Amino acid sequence: MTHEKMNWDRSTLAAQALHLINEATGAVVPGIEPASTFARGADYELKGGFNYARNENPTTKATEKVLAALDGGADAMAFNAGMAAVVSLFETVRTGQHIVAPRVMYHGGQDWLRRLSQTRGIGLTFFDQTQEGALEEAIHPGETAIVWIETPVNPTWDVIDIERAAKAAHEAGAILGVDSTVAPPCTTRPLELGADIVFHSATKYLGGHSDLTAGALIGARTNALWDEIKQVRKLTGGILSPFDAWLLLRGMRTLFVRFERASDNAMALARSLSGHPKVVQMLYPGLESHPGHEIAKKQMRGGFGGMMSLLIDGDAAAAKRVATAAKLFIPATSLGGVESLIEHRKSIEGPHSIVPENLLRLSVGIEDVRDLIADLEQALEAI
Ligand SMILES: Cc1ncc(COP(=O)(O)O)c(C=O)c1O
Repeated sequence: MTHEKMNWDRSTLAAQALHLINEATGAVVPGIEPASTFARGADYELKGGFNYARNENPTTKATEKVLAALDGGADAMAFNAGMAAVVSLFETVRTGQHIVAPRVMYHGGQDWLRRLSQTRGIGLTFFDQTQEGALEEAIHPGETAIVWIETPVNPTWDVIDIERAAKAAHEAGAILGVDSTVAPPCTTRPLELGADIVFHSATKYLGGHSDLTAGALIGARTNALWDEIKQVRKLTGGILSPFDAWLLLRGMRTLFVRFERASDNAMALARSLSGHPKVVQMLYPGLESHPGHEIAKKQMRGGFGGMMSLLIDGDAAAAKRVATAAKLFIPATSLGGVESLIEHRKSIEGPHSIVPENLLRLSVGIEDVRDLIADLEQALEAI
């Protein structure tokens, strides 16, 4: 029986990787098919639809089926890094067209957009994601090709209303792309809120174990744009390798339980550190005090996740001292893994960063929350 015939919840689909049992062997998990090329049949036909692994291959395809099902898309494409997916999507924007994106977002994506605007004659407007109506004002009807949002934005966790952004994009003839890395499909499904394409750095929550880099695009529909992105992936060799696709598929099976635990831990930690004498402000969309809390409640239905930032009472040097004084939180970049990380964000973002120097970003994992709280309390003594 295939999952299409069943009305299973997405957590069930994830846990069983779509119930993809190998009919020939009975294996309950999909295997890895490492072949780079595929033999043709007697009439020179392709046997399974595959001819060369850079175009498509069976293992990556199996993972893409799970990605598409979890986000409710018509199709999915897996890439060898989140940035490979982002670059492939923006490669479809033509000279003279225009892109809209938040002023605070993942810095690598923003660097790429700046490069496009400087070298390719593509218009670019960054909007202030904290200002109501700023997204709408940034759009140039008839010229804007892609409205790009990230929510919650990294690393201030401002929340952008996906439904409202989709409406604004569509009224102007643009598409809405959503970086949903921090809000994976166990909590937010942007396609159901009107987005056209969802993006994930699958390096983060989808993989979940800090042991692979991967990216994913999930399309609401397959159309000429989707085909063009696929063509870019094929010609640039951006596809996720079979081994990494298999690791990603394995990671996604525990996505729902990992995310739930990380969300519970993060909420307890945020509450415990709010009002701490060395913490000036806690930025976490799960807190009622967070300006984006109401929208977050509406579009993060399965938990607010494990990402938060704290503004400490001190300068950059003090923030770095706290990061290195932690004994359990690991001082490293990235997010969404089972282990908790702490990071001085301004150090990694480069010259364009507008992130405050006293901001420490936390990726809260699935450890015992009492250990996490105790660790941060002792680390804050370093100020
Ligand atoms: C929100 C967000 N988007 C995109 C990316 C880029 O993904 P990758 O590092 O997998 O290329 C990251 C990576 O940190 C991210 O955090």
